[in-house]
Amino acid sequence: MYNIRINAKEKLTDVSDSLYGLFFEDINRAGDGGLYAELLRNRAFEDGVIPEGCRYDPTSRTITSPTGWTTSFDGCEDEEITGWEASGSAVMTLTSQGTLNPNRKRALCVKFNGGSIRNTGFNGISVEKGKSYRFYMFAKCTVPTDITVSLAGGEGTYSSYTFTAEGDYKKYECELVSCGEDHNAWLSLHSPSDSQVTLGFVSLFPKDTFMGRENGLRADLVQRLLSLRPAFLRFPGGCIVEGFSRETAYRFKDTIGPVWERRSHCLLWNYTTTNGLGFHEYLQFCEDAGIDAMYVCNCGMSCQGRCPDYFDDDLINELLEDAEQAILYALSPADTPWGAKRAANGHPLPFDRLRYIEIGNENWGEEYFKRYDKFYKRLKKRFGQLTFIATDHTEKAGLDTEYVDEHFYSNPLFFAANAGMYDSLPKGIKIYCGEYASTIGCKEGTLYGALGEAAFLTGVERNQDRVTMTSYAPLLKNVNHVSWEPDLIAFDNYRSFVIPSYHVLKMFAENRGEYVCRCDIVTESTRRTESGCFMTEDGRKTFGENFSSVENDKIHIRFWDKETAGEDQDHYDWIAENNKSSVIHYNGWSQEVICEAPCEIRERNRVEITTRADSFRITLNGITVHEHTLPPIPDLFGVSSVDSEKSEIILKIVNFSEKRITADLACDLPLKGTARVTVLTAAEKNAKNSFEEPDAVCPQTITVTLKDGTLSVPPVSVNVICMETEGQR
Ligand code: AHR
Repeated sequence: MYNIRINAKEKLTDVSDSLYGLFFEDINRAGDGGLYAELLRNRAFEDGVIPEGCRYDPTSRTITSPTGWTTSFDGCEDEEITGWEASGSAVMTLTSQGTLNPNRKRALCVKFNGGSIRNTGFNGISVEKGKSYRFYMFAKCTVPTDITVSLAGGEGTYSSYTFTAEGDYKKYECELVSCGEDHNAWLSLHSPSDSQVTLGFVSLFPKDTFMGRENGLRADLVQRLLSLRPAFLRFPGGCIVEGFSRETAYRFKDTIGPVWERRSHCLLWNYTTTNGLGFHEYLQFCEDAGIDAMYVCNCGMSCQGRCPDYFDDDLINELLEDAEQAILYALSPADTPWGAKRAANGHPLPFDRLRYIEIGNENWGEEYFKRYDKFYKRLKKRFGQLTFIATDHTEKAGLDTEYVDEHFYSNPLFFAANAGMYDSLPKGIKIYCGEYASTIGCKEGTLYGALGEAAFLTGVERNQDRVTMTSYAPLLKNVNHVSWEPDLIAFDNYRSFVIPSYHVLKMFAENRGEYVCRCDIVTESTRRTESGCFMTEDGRKTFGENFSSVENDKIHIRFWDKETAGEDQDHYDWIAENNKSSVIHYNGWSQEVICEAPCEIRERNRVEITTRADSFRITLNGITVHEHTLPPIPDLFGVSSVDSEKSEIILKIVNFSEKRITADLACDLPLKGTARVTVLTAAEKNAKNSFEEPDAVCPQTITVTLKDGTLSVPPVSVNVICMETEGQR
């Protein structure tokens, strides 16, 4: 039986204007060559520089941080000069001597000898006929040297310009107008001379950026972002804020001023950015887009998931000062030292869109609490108008807490199963659900993944007085440089497509209403079927439905273990020690406490676990400690809101099941006979989009007749149903 009853007159909460935001992190090369419109790869010649303090192993092409974190590192400078090729008689070498400025670690020495060097951008430079591209280079040479810069490709040369370079470093710039269209073009530099030219920094930008900004953003990708109607932008990360060492921790100061003077940053996602998309540019984007800014600062430690370095007091203080100065840069008047820097960078007025500061990213525990407390007290005292966000439940440690940022990366079922998670959130705690995505089993972004998230979001919307902000993560992926999947928007050097989750967010953000009203849903449910082996800590693996053994006084046994690891892990762990027993479901990067109970543990313990499709019983020394059945997954999830201005009731309904459902629909206000329905579905739940089929899963809007008080809901679908009411309420 399926029944939807809307009580439009019963207001649960106002809608939160900030509910849907964006989280941008430079991951998957989302920055340079992505949202940041730079077309040249390795424009500062520093891509292959091993980050300070790290060891490089050429056999495995990995680096190891001072605390022992090992990760891949492609394109080490001893092996190649990433992005650049020499042809003809040209010879190029990197140097660390005589660079453009103290922040530049390398320069490129070129002897052209009548040959050329070229940069192929991020898997080809995309040029369009009649479009302009701004080029500049800092070059030095002892004798006057003609250097021709060209945009070229399979069809020949599309545009070129010749400079005569001479003397110490100077900036040489020109505008190139392409006479051809080519998505696989390159930029070449050629000289007939055999004298040495040293390049300190080069850049090529399309003139058409978002709002025409010179150091700006790729307009088509910005359009994708703005179509989501975001309320805010969280930046710059993510784990890149933490870094994997003290040297790679994010500092705002490295990201402002002339781009050729900014230090490069080896990101924890295995590549180097030139920081052209910096603090100033993020704030400028927020201002241009009319959205709020949320800055995430490093709170004095490197990533806790990657052999953490808990920085000493000096460095904590330096990072606290960096956070403070970032805020001053954004908000203080132009006649103050930091305001003057902002004015010198082209923005005399404060960036008053800065509203939120997040203290750290995904940091937790005692080490975090100490640092949070220090940052919060100092920053709040000075900038009381800002809202501060913690990354752990600092309120449980007795600390002043305004918001807690929670992250979930799991399978779609986890999100559906936890759609009611916030129904029982204690009053007073404000949540920002800053990163979430269905990941396991849907890396390329499937309809099923989107269904799970949509089900979860119905619960968030119901509780948007306390969960007032959300942002999906990650946002962008260059399909040729993947570090993390899925991502909301996939792009290459000229195209993009979106995954089904994007459509859900757009549908939900476009249909908000003004208050959430009561909506009771009676639905059938589907029982869960779990499976997997038993696994003890010392690696004993058992198949079947029963497990028994004798254990010592610390019991840790895995069951329903799918034998997947890391981001794909999916297992239930029974942990009993100190007379406390709990079962925790580890699902992707999320954990859910399934049940907890007191217990009596001896030195030697007889344990038994019996599992069935959706239930388990755990016995300790003959006493049943846990007997639990996983709740079934409802077929329908929903939430409803009211738009009084339009006299409309908005009903969001997710059909998580694979059957068409006809539900009785009742409302306490008289409805007109038709409804505007936007539905996202596909023939099968694992359907996804791609460059070849960008619209395989995309929403359709239709008008339906609301017959006999029933609603027909397609299988595996997300529906936004807008129903006009008769007259005013
Ligand atoms: O969104 C990808 C990563 O997931 C973020 O960098 C981090 O905050 C989380 O672990």
